[in-house]
Amino acid sequence: MNRVLQLILMAIITATPAIAMAKTSDEASSFSARRGENLWNMQFTVSGQQRSCASCHTADPRQAGKHVRTGKAIQAMAPSLNSDRFTDQSKINKWFKRNCKWTLGRVCTYQEKGDVLEYLKSL
Ligand code: HEC
Repeated sequence: MNRVLQLILMAIITATPAIAMAKTSDEASSFSARRGENLWNMQFTVSGQQRSCASCHTADPRQAGKHVRTGKAIQAMAPSLNSDRFTDQSKINKWFKRNCKWTLGRVCTYQEKGDVLEYLKSL
């Protein structure tokens, strides 16, 4: 588990542009699972469609999900149920970038990524 946490932190740090990193260490350590859960289920309107992380990953990240467009199965996101989760830094960065852009219409902030990971770890 320690190795996973280390990778998660490295992923957040390397996936974040320098400007977003200009935070105090206090702020950087204050990730919230509750905020992460809110973001996970929040509906965004992009290209006239309602989108959320739950659209593909379901509202319960302990469950397997399904890609809304391709119908492909997606394994559970919670690392407690899927030990492959958050073990590959470039994978984490790639999907955060792609999925935030698709879901929110923009990349996620440092805080948002940290909150989501805090939420997923807490399950
Ligand atoms: C359109 C479908 C879709 C939506 C919406 C979506 N994802 Fe994903 N996500 C995927 C797919 C497909 C993968 C890659 C396959 C896999 O890892 O099982 C993935 C993988 C990930 C990963 C990589 C996990 C790892 O093991 O390293 C993260 C992190 C992630 N998603 C976060 C999010 C977040 C946060 C949101 C909402 C902002 C979101 N996703 C919304 C489809 C989606």
